[in-house]
Amino acid sequence: MTLILVGYMGSGKSSVGKRMAELINYDFIDLDDYIEEKAEMSIKEIFKTRNEIFFRKLEHTSLKEVIEVNNAVIALGGGTPCYGINLSLIKNHPNCKIIYLKGSIKSLTTRLSSEKENRPLIAHLQTEGALLEFIGKHLFERAPFYEQSDIIIKTDNLSVDEVVASIVLELF
Ligand code: S3P
Repeated sequence: MTLILVGYMGSGKSSVGKRMAELINYDFIDLDDYIEEKAEMSIKEIFKTRNEIFFRKLEHTSLKEVIEVNNAVIALGGGTPCYGINLSLIKNHPNCKIIYLKGSIKSLTTRLSSEKENRPLIAHLQTEGALLEFIGKHLFERAPFYEQSDIIIKTDNLSVDEVVASIVLELF
């Protein structure tokens, strides 16, 4: 089986994915890290020196590669399932379970306000109010993609271990 974690930036995909993979003895792949290794550049540099379209193309080819790894937990980037054919690629792949880590606009804003420097899409937003407004609109556009997941976990007020436990309950 391949477990795919989706969700907005700051929803905990990487920390939950790592913990989940340890628990069930699977490999853990973070798509952003994979892209950075492949490009030999940070995501921030890719957006700065190239552009978002270049990043999305790289994201798509990287997704096609990592999805072939069996017995893996894969944390996607926040935008991955929302572009091109990426969502149908994972939905049609055998033995893939898609898990949406669903955070509220408020909790995502709180988390991202201290973690936006390395996230080019939000790094320019100066105030918490501007961030809240941006995330509200952006999540409205992206939710229809995330909501097509097999399993949806509401993550507000849950620790990483509690999110992992909720996923395990749904899966097995
Ligand atoms: C993005 C999310 C980021 C990263 C890139 C674009 C997005 O990943 O892929 O900055 O479009 O939401 P995280 O969700 O891991 O922050």
